[in-house]
Amino acid sequence: KEYVIGVDLGGTKILTALSDLEGNILKRSRVLVGDVKDKDTVVTKIKETIEQVIEETEVDLEQVAGIGLGCPGPLDIEEGLIHHTPNLNLDDVNIKDELSDLNTPIFLENDANAAALGEQWFGSGKGAENMIYITVSTGIGGGVIINGDIYHGTSDGAGEIGHMTLDPNSVVKCGCGNFGCWEALASGTALSRLGQEALKAEEDTMIDDLVDEISEVDGAVVAKAAAKEDEVALELMNTIAERLGTGLASLINIFNPSRIVFGGGVSNSWSLLEDKVWETIEARAMDSLAEKVEIIPAELGSDVGVVGAIAAALAHIKK
Ligand code: BGC
Ligand code: NA
Ligand code: ZN
Repeated sequence: KEYVIGVDLGGTKILTALSDLEGNILKRSRVLVGDVKDKDTVVTKIKETIEQVIEETEVDLEQVAGIGLGCPGPLDIEEGLIHHTPNLNLDDVNIKDELSDLNTPIFLENDANAAALGEQWFGSGKGAENMIYITVSTGIGGGVIINGDIYHGTSDGAGEIGHMTLDPNSVVKCGCGNFGCWEALASGTALSRLGQEALKAEEDTMIDDLVDEISEVDGAVVAKAAAKEDEVALELMNTIAERLGTGLASLINIFNPSRIVFGGGVSNSWSLLEDKVWETIEARAMDSLAEKVEIIPAELGSDVGVVGAIAAALAHIKK
């Protein structure tokens, strides 16, 4: 068999790619999940993207050694079970069963764990034995690499860093059911919420000129206004940066990593965030640990999840 397929299942989009056994991508396909994020929709769309990369390259599924599937939420990797997805409606879905008609081995991995693997093999994570990958987009996810390997925990659930409580008094509800999670307060979704609130409060900001409806304000819109030095948007970026730095300081204290690789949509705005993130880390993490860590944006950019899913498949095949 000469190929593998990687599928990056996100809260907003599904990215699929066909690669050779060295991880070189030959074809990509991308679809939006849309508003209905239930099992049937997601499974149909995953299959659509797989068909696309297969048809367009004239590869037969029989030539594919395995499909790596990066999926949000705590999973049971062997069983193929998705326990709970905070940003999709896929609770208690056995995704291996759902995709069994493809007759191809499915290798499930948490999306952020997969991305961590991708960066470790092919990107900014090269050579780092103790590394944390963090993705900040619709949610916040993490992949913790300890002594060179992904740390999976007791039941594959380790690395759910987005659901550590950042503010116990917060009334912002998280997709996991808790209130005041890091993800609820510092993700792209949180940035979008802050932007929408600023417009509702009729603040004088350029964000207004970038959209027709308040509901169109997403994290990228706020970042765009901030890049144009809009004061209100810059303040919102600062708020997010401080919250990111607070959570990162805890991760640094717990894991003493040499490197943190920062991916996901919000990482595109790293230059607008980094000063405040570092200021916060320096204020909150222990000095001797903070001194040892570097934070670098994911090198694989928006490909990181799909490359990670490919890496997850290759890791099993080459075993
Ligand atoms: C999920 C994680 C996932 C992250 C990014 C979180 O809501 O709990 O498993 O890695 O979102 O998709
Ligand atoms: Na994870
Ligand atoms: Zn949560």
